[in-house]
Amino acid sequence: MLTPYVPKPERYSGMKYLRCGQSGLRLSRVSLGFWHNFGDVNVYANCREMVLGAFDLGITSYDLANNYGPCPGSAEETFGRIVNGELRHYRDEMVISSKAGYRMWDGPYGDGGSRKYLMASLDQSLRRMGLDYVDIFYHHRPDPETPLEETMGALADIVRSGKALYAGISNYPADLTRAAAKTMRALGVPLLIHQPSYSMLNRWPEDGLLDALAEEGMGCIAFSPLAQGLLTDRYFRGVPADSRAGGASVFLHPDRVTPELLAKTQALNAIAARRGQTLAQMALAWVLRGDRVTTVLIGASRLAQIQDNVKAVDKLDFAPEELDEIETILKKDA
Ligand SMILES: NC(=O)c1ccc[n+]([C@@H]2O[C@H](COP(=O)([O-])OP(=O)(O)OC[C@H]3O[C@@H](n4cnc5c(N)ncnc54)[C@H](OP(=O)(O)O)[C@@H]3O)[C@@H](O)[C@H]2O)c1
Repeated sequence: MLTPYVPKPERYSGMKYLRCGQSGLRLSRVSLGFWHNFGDVNVYANCREMVLGAFDLGITSYDLANNYGPCPGSAEETFGRIVNGELRHYRDEMVISSKAGYRMWDGPYGDGGSRKYLMASLDQSLRRMGLDYVDIFYHHRPDPETPLEETMGALADIVRSGKALYAGISNYPADLTRAAAKTMRALGVPLLIHQPSYSMLNRWPEDGLLDALAEEGMGCIAFSPLAQGLLTDRYFRGVPADSRAGGASVFLHPDRVTPELLAKTQALNAIAARRGQTLAQMALAWVLRGDRVTTVLIGASRLAQIQDNVKAVDKLDFAPEELDEIETILKKDA
């Protein structure tokens, strides 16, 4: 049996935690996601180093989904190996999430929002991770073909069964979020959290979603807060072969790294430097500003990035002039 990991005793001193909406659950202001870099195509030693390192930095919130890999499902297996291995004494210090909503297996029951798919998928995720329960189970995206009552009813029953402690939704627009929250309240299982994309380069939640979450008492975990790495210095000297845009991922094409984007990010970088932050730290602090977002859900390809990013919580406040300056840069035509 693997020797248990001995985490740093001071791990909770540097991180900040915020209550998720009106719930009693506090989340680390930085969460770690497993969409990229934790599949069976990746080097296990690096995955392990990132998870143990994140835990040592006070990150308590870990975000998975049935389809993360590649191959799909393998990120949950990688994470399960660590959480049931060296971190096995620390399950109660972690908030572990999974999701279903995108295509996961063949046939009519491996995609969407049906009760049939959600229940089966969570059972598969628990088996892959070797866990009895997840802390948060999400419906990953709206499914217009399934009645909202069916999807929410499945989430409520999953929570009642104890296989998840809380329920969440992801990628739902504001109006559907309000309807989902109302449905869940009526079922006696409040929706804990919404997971939208949100960054300086992608501001759709400002158009009604953040207001809806505040009114419904839901928390917000913002994914891709670094725009998959574009809001860092990763591309300042070209597109590295080991970067997301330079590698095998189909989700970030190198065409996104334009001279116009670089002009913006270099200008933002100058503001970050004045604040004593890296561009990544300032981009994360900007998403967390004003506490409307509970936690930023970052990705990483190496531990050094996580170490850089958690320092964002040391300076979350912005002077009004800084926000104006950032706004001017962001509004320049791309
Ligand atoms: N609900 C949904 O539909 C949905 C969709 C997408 C993602 N998510 C969740 O959100 C998580 C994060 O998404 P994401 O990976 O796109 O987030 P992100 O934080 O915007 O981007 C992460 C990438 O940025 C680069 N990076 C991170 N920190 C850096 C630093 N300090 N300096 C330089 N580069 C840095 C790395 O790129 P390199 O790999 O190039 O080093 C890293 O892989 C996912 O893992 C997943 O859990 C959810």
